[in-house]
Amino acid sequence: MTYADVYKSWQTDPEAFWMKAAQAITWVKPPSRALDDSKAPIYSWYADAQVNTCYNAVDRHVENGRADQVAIIHDSPMTHCVSRMTFAELQTATASLAGALRAQGIGMGDRVIIYMPMVPEALVAMLACARIGAVHSVVFGGFAAHELAVRIDDATPKAIIGASCGLEPGRTVAYKPLIDGAIAQAKHKVDFTVILQREQCRADMTDGFDHDWHAVQQGVTPAECVPVAGDHPAYILYTSGTTGAPKGVVRATAGHLVALNWTMKNIYNVNPGEVFWAASDVGWVVGHSYICYGPLIHGNTTVVFEGKPVGTPDAGTFWRVIQDHKVRSFFTAPTAFRAIKRDDPKGELIKDYDISSLRALYLAGERADPDTIIWAQNVMKVPVYDHWWQTESGFPMVGNPAGIEALPVKIGSPTVALPGYDIRILDEGGHEVPRGTLGAIAIKLPLPPGTLPTLWRAEDRFIKSYLTTFPGYYETGDAGLMDEDGYLYVMARTDDVINVAGHRLSTGAMEEILANHPDVAECAVIGVTDELKGQLPMGFVCTNKGTSRTDADIVKDCIRMVREEIGPVAAFKLVVVVDRLPKTRSGKILRRTMVSIADNADFKMPATIDDPAILDEIRTALKPLGYGGA
Ligand code: COA
Ligand code: AMP
Repeated sequence: MTYADVYKSWQTDPEAFWMKAAQAITWVKPPSRALDDSKAPIYSWYADAQVNTCYNAVDRHVENGRADQVAIIHDSPMTHCVSRMTFAELQTATASLAGALRAQGIGMGDRVIIYMPMVPEALVAMLACARIGAVHSVVFGGFAAHELAVRIDDATPKAIIGASCGLEPGRTVAYKPLIDGAIAQAKHKVDFTVILQREQCRADMTDGFDHDWHAVQQGVTPAECVPVAGDHPAYILYTSGTTGAPKGVVRATAGHLVALNWTMKNIYNVNPGEVFWAASDVGWVVGHSYICYGPLIHGNTTVVFEGKPVGTPDAGTFWRVIQDHKVRSFFTAPTAFRAIKRDDPKGELIKDYDISSLRALYLAGERADPDTIIWAQNVMKVPVYDHWWQTESGFPMVGNPAGIEALPVKIGSPTVALPGYDIRILDEGGHEVPRGTLGAIAIKLPLPPGTLPTLWRAEDRFIKSYLTTFPGYYETGDAGLMDEDGYLYVMARTDDVINVAGHRLSTGAMEEILANHPDVAECAVIGVTDELKGQLPMGFVCTNKGTSRTDADIVKDCIRMVREEIGPVAAFKLVVVVDRLPKTRSGKILRRTMVSIADNADFKMPATIDDPAILDEIRTALKPLGYGGA
């Protein structure tokens, strides 16, 4: 079958398509139907099924001849260690931790926050929750205590599973004080923690509240897999919206299983038993779908990589990992390749390695710029597939279906809509625009299984954020165009979300922090273009009249506050003090115009601008930072 045949078969009969895909999952009670649209526009998939995610990701492989196959390879240039865990060992580990969680009072539907670095225990923790029907919410280690506290208050977990530390080049990040700080800040009180002590830094533990990862498992009865309903939440993953309150994306169990399993062959073109590697972090959706769940559900070996593309120890690290573990398909963010290209522009280091196991490179998480794609193609000599998706979708919306039929690559386009996604480009009024015309990228409802059914305890926000602007469609928040061949081009976000080194961040959240500075009267945060990270946040602050503090001190405070409240991942280091911000006559800050000035790009003077002279002031203020055409 060609891609066109498969897409058509989905279009003609989506119910049959998704019921067929569901046959690859091992059900306790198979679904009688795929889609339940009785509560549209809130849809659910396989709602009457009974199933367990951990069983499908682990136990069934043990029962079906893969017991001794490696499930997880932990490759950590940070600790100079490589370790392997078979499916049988993973089953023992998850059953044991799940038993310990159950003994501590965690049961069906209880939330558990996981705050861990890139260690295999992070996957064990996720799977242990799934084993007993608990709902995990993994928080990325680069977020600070405040962000963790916000998530504790929203998810109201009974427990936090953490580690004593994460390892960043040149520094050990002690996680436990951040966990303690978050628990102290949060209004919701968790019952207990489970902490994995790492030898690089041991955490102080409070008796009766903090449990050691190993000690808490001693003598417990291993937990069996508990069946859950198809629409039971598998996890909540918080992602940035336009405000400081992150959105709790809910993933329903059955759709997640079916969709991820379908993508492993059809998109990533791996067969069970082969090695799949996504170089991301368990704290992001890529880590959920393609470090943990997708490969394991499909019977692949997954690589958990604790390191960076450069500096651990050099720009040849990725090639070594591909060689050593015979990686078949590799997935990362373009920023990682920009970092490698910067350190090793001619790709000399790849000559020391044999990467002949690799079939293709997959890029996502941010726009893949043509230079990076061409460089990767030339150096790696494998197809480079850009693909487009987001936390909300949980798996690719647009991609090159290489496992069905490798379509010609058009550089700059993540290729075509995948089955399940009816992608339309709409104008402001919600009307479809002609091919080749820029507009908002929207998806005709219903979204396929595996996508978010709602936001955690915030159905109104879900409807308002995604389903209201274009009735009958899901609003992706991205703008772009589709060409005559149905190839999509994703150009920009339509909201205040920015993408820093593949990490999705909210400028609104940063503005809320700056506005809390006692000397800041007004502020704006924008995303400016950065060669390495794609975008960087830049803050503009107007200070209160009569403050005794210098501009330089206020700038330092602002940088510190964002790092302390959001975390180092925000990479917030650029702040300028200005007398006033450019606004429309109705008082709306002209952020897009500011971005154009900072990037020294052409722009049209906004017709509604209050005072065009401010734009020159902004440009002048940016020069010392090297922006605005300096
Ligand atoms: N725990 C604690 N701190 C973390 C962290 C974690 N898990 N991950 C990152 N940080 C810190 C970093 O140490 C850095 O701190 P610093 O300001 O003190 O230097 C800061 O957060 C920014 O990190 P990062 O964005 O990773 O930038 P970097 O300069 O360390 O590395 C790249 C740049 C391009 C090499 C890196 O961003 C990268 O590999 N990106 C891959 C993108 C990715 O995986 N995206 C996920 C979606 S697919
Ligand atoms: P996240 O939810 O963190 O995965 O971020 C999703 C957002 O990243 C999308 O809405 C896009 O703005 C951007 N993005 C992801 N993949 C791509 C891609 N291949 N091309 C362009 N933008 C992308």
